Amino acid sequence: MNYPLSRPRRNRKSASIRSMVQENHLRPEHLIAPLFIIEGKDKSEPIPSMPGYYRHTLDKTVTYAKYLYNLGIRSVLLFVKVPDAKKDNEGTEALNPDGLMQRAIKSIKDAVPELCVMTDVALDPYSSYGHDGVVEDGKIINDVSVQILSEMALSHALAGADFVAPSDMMDGRIGAMREKLEGNAFHNTGIMAYSAKYASCFYGPFRDALDSAPGFGDKKTYQMNPANSIEAIREAILDEAEGADILMVKPGMPYLDIIQSIKQNVTVPVSVYHVSGEYAIIKAAAAQGWINEEQAIMESLLAFRRAGADLIATYFAEQAATLL
Ligand code: PBG
Repeated sequence: MNYPLSRPRRNRKSASIRSMVQENHLRPEHLIAPLFIIEGKDKSEPIPSMPGYYRHTLDKTVTYAKYLYNLGIRSVLLFVKVPDAKKDNEGTEALNPDGLMQRAIKSIKDAVPELCVMTDVALDPYSSYGHDGVVEDGKIINDVSVQILSEMALSHALAGADFVAPSDMMDGRIGAMREKLEGNAFHNTGIMAYSAKYASCFYGPFRDALDSAPGFGDKKTYQMNPANSIEAIREAILDEAEGADILMVKPGMPYLDIIQSIKQNVTVPVSVYHVSGEYAIIKAAAAQGWINEEQAIMESLLAFRRAGADLIATYFAEQAATLL
């Protein structure tokens, strides 16, 4: 039906009507808050390339996690910063039952049992090479890495993690982790797979935050080529078949098409990681007075929902939940 019978503006006439016909919504329970944890007590370190974001010691992290839960946020995603002296090629410290990650999982679950604790599973923060897997002759070797990563997932489950979130992009890791968890009676520990994780420049500030930049080369032999989309569907279908419970796309804003196509091709929930570089872009432009920070945040997060994301990991989780 054509104009003037059809006038789309009628449905935009007032705030009430606009809210009645709004197709997508954002709620605090859609948000996952990434947390950077450091050793020590009662300390917060600013991250220069992520203005307004901090690495907190565990005691402060627990207090912050409680605060987030009271804001309506239902999930946190944990990362730890590992001192250089504890890094090696095999990421041995990742399996330490008394490691910072394992202690963090336990403390947060004890303090806020209802909060869903998710953990990053990859070797890079623990690796002397800053790679997500084990290095041999300058190459990242798949199957040995998968074995260690599966042990790492089990170690997080033992500490009480609700979900492990493998971000390493090795082949076959979801199946191996699922088997490892099932074999050890962790039937209800979920896996949120970073299924379509691209080799992206937008991780720069995160690597500053965790001091985890690759020592040589790049991550292009395991993370995906930003030019590809069909391959993302392949990765997603494999991960769903291997037993993943949630599939993630990463980064976010430049990859909305990938969120949409994965959502249409799987039956598990889909999440997106609004990554550190995307956070930095909004913060930097807002600091210059070039964009309205709060509007930029809410528009970005709603765009993820519109593209098909059920869940959004974002450094703006606290700010967005407060605005909601
Ligand atoms: C580690 C990991 C990275 C991110 C999450 N997990 C960095 C990388 O792969 O180099 C990036 C998160 C962000 O940029 O916010 N495998």
